[in-house]
Amino acid sequence: MSETVYNNEPGNDQVYDETIYGDDTAGQAYDEFGDNQGVYDQDDIIISARNVVKCFPMGNGEKFYALKGLDMDVPRGKLTILKGRSGSGKTTLLNILSALDDATEGEVYVNGNELNTMPETEREKLRRYDIGFVFQSVALIPIMNAYENVDFGLRLADYEGNRDERIKEVLDMVGLGGRMQHLPSEMSGGEQQRVAIARAVAHKPQVIFADEPTGALDTASGLTVMKLFKELVAKEGITIVMTTHDPNLMELGDVVYEIEDGEIVARA
Ligand SMILES: Nc1ncnc2c1ncn2[C@@H]1O[C@H](COP(=O)(O)OP(=O)(O)O)[C@@H](O)[C@H]1O
Ligand SMILES: [Mg+2]
Repeated sequence: MSETVYNNEPGNDQVYDETIYGDDTAGQAYDEFGDNQGVYDQDDIIISARNVVKCFPMGNGEKFYALKGLDMDVPRGKLTILKGRSGSGKTTLLNILSALDDATEGEVYVNGNELNTMPETEREKLRRYDIGFVFQSVALIPIMNAYENVDFGLRLADYEGNRDERIKEVLDMVGLGGRMQHLPSEMSGGEQQRVAIARAVAHKPQVIFADEPTGALDTASGLTVMKLFKELVAKEGITIVMTTHDPNLMELGDVVYEIEDGEIVARA
């Protein structure tokens, strides 16, 4: 890091301490909070972030640190929630964990493989086959009905199984088996989000990343989405990482990380 002190540069307390974490922390669970909660076997960690810094260059030549040397582990087959106020760094972190964006410093391990050293073709495969995405503003294709939207996702992921069977299965799973022929404009926001979730899980990814998936929904629809996530974790064994700034949803997470000004400040 340069010697210039920027107004939000990580402080010395964030210096990575090899005496605590060891010099090879790939995929290893850590217990920064000293309570042994949330510490998992190495095999049970699907993604880990180590000393992740994200710095955005600003127009005036200064730098803005959106993430300031952050460590976290995502346990496999669980629902992990990243909570924090708007602007705390949730989206930035999610984009880095899902290989959509690069960290400025630090490492991200997915199944033990470090993303920075992975060839772009491998990262592309990871995004296409192993990851599903759900966004706040539901990104369905307006001229395609629910069935066709899920089918489109399956084709993009080169799904090799029986597509028709899988489409019906996942739309049933999200409670929309009777709405397969409906266009997005003929469904409520909550129903559209459930189609988006069906599309995200259809190709059987290992992990689903969901950025504020309940952010645009009313409370009841938001809870339906959360229940669905819990079911997917329990029944399909999928790993879900989602962000939210809604304090009411926290207790539904298996692991909850609280992020504040680009730092993890609590884990429960
Ligand atoms: N591309 C960018 N360039 C400059 N600053 C950015 C960029 N993306 C995000 N930021 C800043 O980083 C901080 C964290 O943003 P973000 O991760 O989107 O927060 P959250 O998702 O928690 O609302 C914010 O202050 C935001 O303005
Ligand atoms: Mg965000």
